[in-house]
Amino acid sequence: MRKYNLKTSRFSGFYNLTLDERREQLVTHSHLSPEDLLPFNTGGLSSSDADHMIENVIGIHSLPLGVALNFQINEKDVLVPFAIEEPSVVAGASFMAKLVRTGGGFQAKASAPEMIGQMQVLDLENLDAAIGIINQHSPELLAEADEVDPILKKFGGGARELQVRIIEESPIGAFLVVHLIYDVRDAMGANAVNTACETLAPRIEALTGGRVHLRILSNLADRRLARANCMIPVDELAFEKYTGEQVRDGILEAYAFAAADPYRAATHNKGIMNGVDAVVIATGNDWRAIEAGAHAYAARSGKYTSLSTWEADSDGNLVGKLEMPMAVGIVGGATKVHPAAQAAIKLMDIKSASELAEIIVSVGLAQNLAAIRALATEGIQRGHMSLHARQVAIAAGAEGDLIEKVAAQMVSEKVVRIDRAEKIIKSM
Ligand code: MEV
Repeated sequence: MRKYNLKTSRFSGFYNLTLDERREQLVTHSHLSPEDLLPFNTGGLSSSDADHMIENVIGIHSLPLGVALNFQINEKDVLVPFAIEEPSVVAGASFMAKLVRTGGGFQAKASAPEMIGQMQVLDLENLDAAIGIINQHSPELLAEADEVDPILKKFGGGARELQVRIIEESPIGAFLVVHLIYDVRDAMGANAVNTACETLAPRIEALTGGRVHLRILSNLADRRLARANCMIPVDELAFEKYTGEQVRDGILEAYAFAAADPYRAATHNKGIMNGVDAVVIATGNDWRAIEAGAHAYAARSGKYTSLSTWEADSDGNLVGKLEMPMAVGIVGGATKVHPAAQAAIKLMDIKSASELAEIIVSVGLAQNLAAIRALATEGIQRGHMSLHARQVAIAAGAEGDLIEKVAAQMVSEKVVRIDRAEKIIKSM
């Protein structure tokens, strides 16, 4: 039974609590019960669950699951689950979400959940005539595709549109591509779209006299976009020796680099994906699909560039925007069968794939800000090193309290290496 919605995603001192204390905090302050958190104890998946998911299973691979704090998205506080092995990511997102709160939080919006299925039509004598025939029969083709998934249809999804275009130049010459636009509601949608394309293919062959070769969804899901924006008052950007204006201008210069140079844009976008993938993985979604869509979208102008934009508004405040394809679902696939993914969705208290997409794109923007703010000021290594040092200490054999002690000493010496960690452990 639902207790109550999360009142705040701000938990002070969360970082310094023990793992059990953090879980207690979640139960005290959110709608989660202790039972809801049980899947996180074990990674959620049993060997027999895993055995049904893929082939040749011999075990389970785990990742740390953290929770990013301080997020306020569309005026709602939300705790965001991150499954990720990289230190600094959860802390960076949480810190930036705190800054963004001072400017009213994130505003995010997902478009209709429309996926694109592609059918490659070959061996046509007259491509223009085939386009005419397909357009003419579009209503009946759409009606047929609509029947493919009665559940989606029941929830208001289904086939929306057929688009036909000619690929003029290719290694095999010109051919036709038919796009089936399909509203997949709260699903990721790959199965429904692929089935619909396979169902339509024989009809398209019969109508056009051509041969439908590939029938598969496109990961460039540019009809299923998620957008987030945020504003940070310039004064809130000040820290240590840096004024707010200096930090803002440094961020704008960093953005200009990514906007202009693909070598930098790839790394800039990787920073966005640090946050995006962490939530996508935590919720059992297909992160390869999200990665493919993101980078193809970043290159949509013909030149690979930054997925985000950063500018100053007329008051001198920092304004960030991120728009990217976001083909994620909350029903079906691993999301449904993975108990930790179910728990992650419950933690966010979301009811639709659109809400999940809006959270993920906001996280991507926060993560981007964390990286470029650090790069534009003190550099990435300082914050990164103290967390990295903990991993090195663990790798060197430190346990319990020793982990923090060994890490702190390495950071103070500015030597974060496994051989040094081993020596410190011996000396302690
Ligand atoms: C590291 O995982 C991500 C960054 O390289 C992103 C960036 O450079 O913007 C720090």
